[in-house]
Amino acid sequence: MTVSRLSLISESKKLSNVSLKELLKDKVSKEELNLIRRSFEIIGDIVVIDIPDEVVHLKDHIAEAILKKHKNIKTILRKVGEVEGVYRIARYEVIYGEETETVVKEHNCRLFVDPTKVYYSVKLSGERERIARLVGEGERVLVMFAGVGPYAIVIARLAKPSEVIGIEINPVAADYFRKNVRLNKVEEIVRVIEGDVRKILPKIEGEFDRILMPSPYIAENFVDLLEGKVKTGGMIHYYTFAGKEEKEKELPEKVMRLFGENRIKVEVKNIRECGNFAPYVYRYVLDLEVI
Ligand SMILES: C[S@@+](CC[C@H](N)C(=O)[O-])C[C@H]1O[C@@H](n2cnc3c(N)ncnc32)[C@H](O)[C@@H]1O
Repeated sequence: MTVSRLSLISESKKLSNVSLKELLKDKVSKEELNLIRRSFEIIGDIVVIDIPDEVVHLKDHIAEAILKKHKNIKTILRKVGEVEGVYRIARYEVIYGEETETVVKEHNCRLFVDPTKVYYSVKLSGERERIARLVGEGERVLVMFAGVGPYAIVIARLAKPSEVIGIEINPVAADYFRKNVRLNKVEEIVRVIEGDVRKILPKIEGEFDRILMPSPYIAENFVDLLEGKVKTGGMIHYYTFAGKEEKEKELPEKVMRLFGENRIKVEVKNIRECGNFAPYVYRYVLDLEVI
């Protein structure tokens, strides 16, 4: 390798440690700098960033600074609307590049995603690994609201389940899910079902050892479907939003009551925060044992 190539690599390594604000400080005013967000999300080779309207005129400078820090980024998306609708997708404006499909790597799995068409969150990758480590050999697992398949595929690759069924209503996400199953060579284990959990689950025969409900926005509306679907001693991973105070004081009782009202007796084994949703509102997962 030539000296100049070596110095270019070490230069880009150095810049990757420099903050976005630091890279922009000579190009924008102090007031503008204060409005620019410190962090952004990297999904494969796509960056997703929040740029407030007051500084949107600086988007080219911001894109340039991001590209200095991360040389292999092909597209930069500005988030212009919050995650919404049944498919839970945010709205984006492309501020650099064109291609909105990418491949994400997590836990030795590869996943095709297009954040403008499907839900996917890098931040939940630790939670996916945690769940996969809980799955015992030979378990039959159901993932409701499966998206492009990250939970189902990580479980199939990291654990030894006998079967993982994932149900997803967004046809584009279900297409990615099928593609991702093939990409990760888990066709023998993972079954993708496209459609509404409410219509599909009652038709699936037999009990599961473990059911995941990874959509905190709607999970509570689907608890009634679970009666007779989980073995005694089996687990349900229930995701929900709550404030910190509510979590400490009321959440376990509230969730046990909700399941009890739906004739499913559960014990809360664990509560874990996995990301915040809005100021003072957090995403929690409750690991529930069916008793
Ligand atoms: C918050 S996303 C989570 C996706 C995935 N579990 C993940 O973590 O990447 C919720 C997903 O549930 C899907 N969904 C919403 N309502 C549904 C329903 N009634 N039946 C099946 N899927 C549904 C949405 O399309 C979306 O992909």
